[in-house]
Amino acid sequence: MVDVILGLQWGDEGKGKIVDYFAPGYDIVARFQGGPNAGHTLYVEGKKVVLHQIPSGIFHQGAENIIGGGVVLDPVILQQECKTVEGFGIDVKKNLLISHRTNLILPTHRALDKASEMQKGEGKIGSTLKGIGPAYMDKTGRNALRVGDLLNKNFTSQYIKLRLKHQRLLDNFNFTEDISSWEDNFFEAIETLRSFKIINGEYYINNKIAEGKKVLAEGAQAAMLDIDFGTYPYVTSSNTISAGVCTGLGIAPQKIERVLGITKSYCTRVGGGPFPTELEDETGEKLRKIGSEFGATTGRPRRCGWIDLVALKYACMINGVTDVVMTKADVLDSFENLQLCTSYTINGEQTQEVPLQMEKLPLQPNYKTMKGWNADTTSIKDAGKLPEDMKKYIAFMNEYLGAPVKYVSNGPGRDQIVSL
Ligand code: GDP
Ligand code: IMO
Ligand code: MG
Repeated sequence: MVDVILGLQWGDEGKGKIVDYFAPGYDIVARFQGGPNAGHTLYVEGKKVVLHQIPSGIFHQGAENIIGGGVVLDPVILQQECKTVEGFGIDVKKNLLISHRTNLILPTHRALDKASEMQKGEGKIGSTLKGIGPAYMDKTGRNALRVGDLLNKNFTSQYIKLRLKHQRLLDNFNFTEDISSWEDNFFEAIETLRSFKIINGEYYINNKIAEGKKVLAEGAQAAMLDIDFGTYPYVTSSNTISAGVCTGLGIAPQKIERVLGITKSYCTRVGGGPFPTELEDETGEKLRKIGSEFGATTGRPRRCGWIDLVALKYACMINGVTDVVMTKADVLDSFENLQLCTSYTINGEQTQEVPLQMEKLPLQPNYKTMKGWNADTTSIKDAGKLPEDMKKYIAFMNEYLGAPVKYVSNGPGRDQIVSL
């Protein structure tokens, strides 16, 4: 069967850490969507590692790691990341498999991403500029190059054809930056990619499931960045929700058993777009400082605010969340009072539903205030030892969300997690 770990907010909930924690219980860890816009942080032997393309199960030699067909892959970033992981004595080529349907990110996709964002000006998405949008546009526009194409003799001519198309678009944007060095790196990395295990992903994974193997699907980004259900147009270009597991890996919905939804005990967002509970004050600054809220991919400061239960409940609904994991609980250790958004007021009307276009509406968050626990929780191992006020905070979340918090993460370390 297949279990899923995915983000319920606007990304960076700590998915990498949680996947790394659960990976020993699985035979396969698979990424099903997104690309190097993801930055998943793990601590291995006390050292920080940020993974962008490689699934977060790679440090467990017993698990196979699959880059699924729904992913967009930048060979250059993959090559760099392999070196980092190999530095820990891991044989990446042995444990990493890549679906032949995985779409390639070309250097011109990155250039197009940059050109498009520059043209948007004030209204820019705040993309990570990794070429994600343009790569998915070529996929749905039926122009893309896929990993399986690398094995064709005419790959280079296919590349040149697409590159010419991109050049016309770049000319329209008046984009003049020289990207020839990006192309040199790309072709070097393509050679490395050819030496990886390229698999017929959908048969591979379904055969494994039929043999009784356990699969963990690792989401990137999060529900509120989903192309269909997120805060469009301030979203990423893939289906980040549990439905994306089926299209991204080629597995049927009834194979999915548990859906673990990850949320911080507060909320962050990086890039543009609406964020109802954002705190542009000292409290927001305090959350950023204690939580070290700076992007793992771009280093940008993350916008911080209180937990938004309206958006979280929506995310639980569209994902079919069975278990909630609350991360960064320790970040709230020193707050006198905590606030939880329980409804929005829009044009004088109170609602518990996420509206179509948040950014275009005069939206006020309404809060429930709860007492903070004011205790250091970072070394707690047993649920019974968690402060009473944290238990109350969690009980309120359980009641509101209708999905239970089953784990609390109380620090970035591998062992800092409490099972409830
Ligand atoms: P991801 O994209 O969802 O994998 O999350 P990121 O790696 O982008 O950001 C999460 C950050 O929070 C990383 O720096 C983690 O090391 C850190 N982190 C994860 N869980 C916890 C936690 O429970 N407490 C604290 N203080 N940090 C955490
Ligand atoms: P992980 O997996 C946080 C945001 C970008 C931007 C928008 C579109 O680490 O949680 P894109 O590069 O996809 O064109 O950017 O989505 N974004 C993320 N924010 N965490 C991520 O991934 C993100 N991936 C993309 O900041 O607002
Ligand atoms: Mg991240």
